[in-house]
Amino acid sequence: MQKKKIIIDCDPGYDDAVAILLAAGNPLIDVLAITTVAGNQTLEKVTRNALRIAKLAHLDHVPIAAGAARPLLRDQIVVAANIHGESGLDGTTLPEADYRVDCRHAAELIVETIMAEPEKSVTLVPIGPLTNIALAARLEPKIVDRVKEVVLMGGGFHIGNVKPMAEFNIENDPEAAHIVFEEKWPIVMVGLDLTYQALATAAVKKEIAGIDSQAAHFLTQVLTRFSENYKRSKGFDEPPVHDPCAVAYVIDPMVMQTRKAVVHVECWGRYSNGMTVTDLRRPAPEDCHTSVAIKLDQTRFWNLITDAVKNL
Ligand code: BDR
Ligand code: CA
Repeated sequence: MQKKKIIIDCDPGYDDAVAILLAAGNPLIDVLAITTVAGNQTLEKVTRNALRIAKLAHLDHVPIAAGAARPLLRDQIVVAANIHGESGLDGTTLPEADYRVDCRHAAELIVETIMAEPEKSVTLVPIGPLTNIALAARLEPKIVDRVKEVVLMGGGFHIGNVKPMAEFNIENDPEAAHIVFEEKWPIVMVGLDLTYQALATAAVKKEIAGIDSQAAHFLTQVLTRFSENYKRSKGFDEPPVHDPCAVAYVIDPMVMQTRKAVVHVECWGRYSNGMTVTDLRRPAPEDCHTSVAIKLDQTRFWNLITDAVKNL
């Protein structure tokens, strides 16, 4: 069976952790590299978290490289300690990783990995601010034609979270997001409209709590804290588990409905900065390279997650 090769660019973060577990535990996925970007917490903290999650997920053979510590043009991002805690994974117990971060910059690792693999065989899965991806596209423009597709968690066509119309990953580096969306690689935007359907309900958490594996125990800690923080900070009864939705699409595109639509990122708006302006007024033109995720098959999605942690 031909596995699907992916590079995960992330800022763990609770839901990034779930995305990594899903990728690691699914037999269809081959994780070629993990790269980190400042987002939910500082670059140093999210990189430490990525190393520790990778060890738990038996991905310690995979190169892990740190990337951008700040956005391309703007000041240091505002980290999401209200949701992910001071460490980025507060309330979880993970041993320190006993191996080192790759000496390359994340953008270099992304470029070298894509260029070393056959054409159209690698999918990029960015689940944090898009700074590393923009840098990689500028460092080696050939990657744009060479990747299979970019399946990213970010944006939204009807809704924002950090601002009325801006989602955290896009808002934190709109210029990088602009670069990424304007390149002509196929992009699937798995945005808030979709991820707000991926709620960790009481039933989901009960099922995961009943699985006897280290990964499932960690996942229970993650979902417990994530739920508490989302309730306290945003008033959600059940938290939306955003990032694994992008990985789930790579595993099984039938897990969600998507629709082709032109998307542009607003970088200059007074109130709309970071908005992913999506044209749903009419069918997209033939040459449209972007799709947006619309509807999630929730049962299929959570089955993928529970199966993955059983496998780990
Ligand atoms: C996104 O922002 C981060 O806090 C999450 O990890 C996710 O990638 C959701 O807006
Ligand atoms: Ca993230």
